Amino acid sequence: MKIIFATNNAHKLSEVQAVLGDGFELVTPRMCGVEEDIPETSDTLEGNASQKSHYLYEKTGLDCFADDTGLEVEALDGAPGVHSARYATDGHDFQANNRLLLKNMEGKENRRARFRTVISLIEGGEEHLFEGIVEGRIIDHESGSEGFGYDPLFVPDGFDRTFAEMTAEEKNAVSHRGRAVRKLVEYLHKNA
Ligand code: IMP
Repeated sequence: MKIIFATNNAHKLSEVQAVLGDGFELVTPRMCGVEEDIPETSDTLEGNASQKSHYLYEKTGLDCFADDTGLEVEALDGAPGVHSARYATDGHDFQANNRLLLKNMEGKENRRARFRTVISLIEGGEEHLFEGIVEGRIIDHESGSEGFGYDPLFVPDGFDRTFAEMTAEEKNAVSHRGRAVRKLVEYLHKNA
């Protein structure tokens, strides 16, 4: 089954493809002729995921899904949250974001944080939402070189390694995105 996934992020694409398995072929917006940045102007993860999937559906008329993820840090009142991509700068500068997070966490005793992913699927013109959460903590230095984004700073509960020190399989087994995508797969299999 072919389905459009609203991302041009190669890391995300391979993480999601690995969870979906061989039964699904992911198609990127670019492969459907959607070259422009897809707008995400909402102030919630749900709103952004929904905005992106509706945008693609209107452009292509095909079944599609979009995800939006935020890192929610307790000691920072839930920041960076929906602003995770543009925490430090206007672009997706992972290193600058990590530096700013470390600076804002200096002296904080409460290191609790969670990643939350929301997926919006549009199938046959109807929208369905799926959520995935992983709880963990922010450490005080970057560690590891796998993954992307805030991975070098986040240690999921039950582990003593960051996401950036795990293989893709280990991360997918517990991650926010892995959990949300498994709910999506379950739904798609049931309704195939
Ligand atoms: P997006 O809107 O879903 O692309 O995610 C927003 C931002 O959250 C990204 O630019 C990354 O900084 C961060 N992020 C999303 N997913 C992950 C992840 O799996 N690990 C680490 N950071 C992530």
